[in-house]
Amino acid sequence: MNLPLEKTVALVTGASSGIGEASALALAKAGAAVALVARREARLQSLAKRIEEAGGRALVIGADITAEAQAREAVEQTVKHFGRLDTLVNNAGVMLLGPIAGANVEEWRRMMDLNVMGLLYCTSAAVPHLLDAAGGGPRRVADIVNVSSVAGRLVRMGSGVYNATKHAVGAFSESLRQELSTRHVRVSLVEPGATDTELRSHNRPEIVAALMTRLGDIKRLEAEEIADAVCYLVTRERHVAINEILIRPTQQTT
Ligand SMILES: NC(=O)c1ccc[n+]([C@@H]2O[C@H](COP(=O)([O-])OP(=O)(O)OC[C@H]3O[C@@H](n4cnc5c(N)ncnc54)[C@H](OP(=O)(O)O)[C@@H]3O)[C@@H](O)[C@H]2O)c1
Repeated sequence: MNLPLEKTVALVTGASSGIGEASALALAKAGAAVALVARREARLQSLAKRIEEAGGRALVIGADITAEAQAREAVEQTVKHFGRLDTLVNNAGVMLLGPIAGANVEEWRRMMDLNVMGLLYCTSAAVPHLLDAAGGGPRRVADIVNVSSVAGRLVRMGSGVYNATKHAVGAFSESLRQELSTRHVRVSLVEPGATDTELRSHNRPEIVAALMTRLGDIKRLEAEEIADAVCYLVTRERHVAINEILIRPTQQTT
């Protein structure tokens, strides 16, 4: 049976948990060889084992993508190992919420460094390889999927800098989409609402409590449901570009 992403290679940042882990599994299931990038290598090793046991191919790359050299090296290692790069999923991100007045600026720096600069470094390194793939690959199309958020569309008091990082991702994605579209590199945004992952756990306890109160006990999305959207984007026919997917849990009002 022909799988839709057979003979293609994908790189997923933040593959050690949550949406990145689920996306890597889904892309591998669709036939892609997958480079798994994050800092927690042990988590990546166990994911690679699961992918390989299911008949797929995986490469573990321990890297902190807030360091430009490590982000570039992750992309180059992928191409060296698998010979090409067709799909980049810029998923790694951190969400540290709280008021702007009196905030710990170090938290802002962590978000800007990862959500914006990490994504830019990986994209910059990947674009020449994606153009090559679109020019001569098995599918003659390549993809960048940027994982933004509902927070990249709406602004809320108490999440100003996270909003700023995800709005930056949206602006950058649209500009890059216009730049690369005629050469068959698609640039897409996935904008999840509340999804059950480790993301909120990096916040201070009072912030986690406020978040839980705001959302109530609604049924959150599963990481696999966002991974489905990632897979949908990158398995479309060459002439079809889905630019943006916004996914909320049904009961999430804003
Ligand atoms: N969960 C939600 O409700 C939700 C909603 C909207 C958007 N999102 C977005 O979805 C994306 C994935 O988040 P998630 O919910 O799956 O959260 P998560 O489980 O916390 O995953 C975040 C991933 O980013 C990686 N990461 C963190 N710092 C890194 C660094 N310096 N270099 C490389 N990788 C790094 C983490 O791996 P290591 O710690 O091993 O490096 C982890 O794999 C984020 O961009 C987030 O903003 C999530």
